Amino acid sequence: MSQPRIVHTRSDLQSAIAAFRKARERVALVPTMGALHEGHLALVRLACGKAERVVVSIFVNPTQFAPHEDFDKYPRTLDSDAEALAGENVDIIYAPGREEMYAADFSTRVLPDGGPAAGLESDARPHFFGGVATVVTKLLLQVRPDLAVFGEKDWQQLQVVKRMVRDLDIGVDIVPGPTVREKDGLALSSRNRYLEPKHREAAPALHRVLNESAVLISRGAPIAQVMTSARHEIEKAGFTVDYVEARHAETLAPVADAHHGPVRLLVAARIGGTRLIDNVPVPHGKD
Ligand code: PAF
Repeated sequence: MSQPRIVHTRSDLQSAIAAFRKARERVALVPTMGALHEGHLALVRLACGKAERVVVSIFVNPTQFAPHEDFDKYPRTLDSDAEALAGENVDIIYAPGREEMYAADFSTRVLPDGGPAAGLESDARPHFFGGVATVVTKLLLQVRPDLAVFGEKDWQQLQVVKRMVRDLDIGVDIVPGPTVREKDGLALSSRNRYLEPKHREAAPALHRVLNESAVLISRGAPIAQVMTSARHEIEKAGFTVDYVEARHAETLAPVADAHHGPVRLLVAARIGGTRLIDNVPVPHGKD
């Protein structure tokens, strides 16, 4: 296992990739915003199992944050991220500066238009998927990987990226990585570090309520009724709910009942100034 090389420029990135290509090696990309935790490392390990060469990008992307959001406060921990990745089979850490990604006169955006980008995160954060789609397109064009791994924790983002890659014929396999959870069910997230102890204690309610709701729906309980009580339960735990909804797992269209699935339950809720998201599948058939 060798220490990953840290590169900050497209030209250094591209000469390293050219060498991999010359050796006919498959390249995987794991895009991140850093502040790496076990959830990211699981994505990296998945990538390592599927390609000879793995690039992890670390870039806190300004265009996916609204001015009132936590861009300035978002943790930037390149040294400890590099340390965490030193134990993995990563070849390159690509950590471009802002100017490397966005020239001063940058003026082009990729804007998902409806489809899986409609509603949910887009209602709460209208700028978000434009920023994600733009930076992910740039990363995919810069690295030109055979595959790219995205976490299922950001379920809507995963569906938006899959649709974008299909619609724009980008020619990369998008590989989903399962959510990694704390023992009490809280999904790992770089934002968990913002939680005060009492909010951290309340936070597993999100996953618990989603799971209980998924079981009820799978047993035939009416979706609208289940989701209304899910909202109340999550509020009772101290959250302000942005949304808690049942959607078609791929199109993210609203679903009337479990027969119109596969169904995914998705939540975004705020507690003590920290916004958390989570999602679970509704079991069906032999699940
Ligand atoms: O999920 C994330 O960390 C980010 O949205 C991504 C995909 C790295 C784009 O900035």
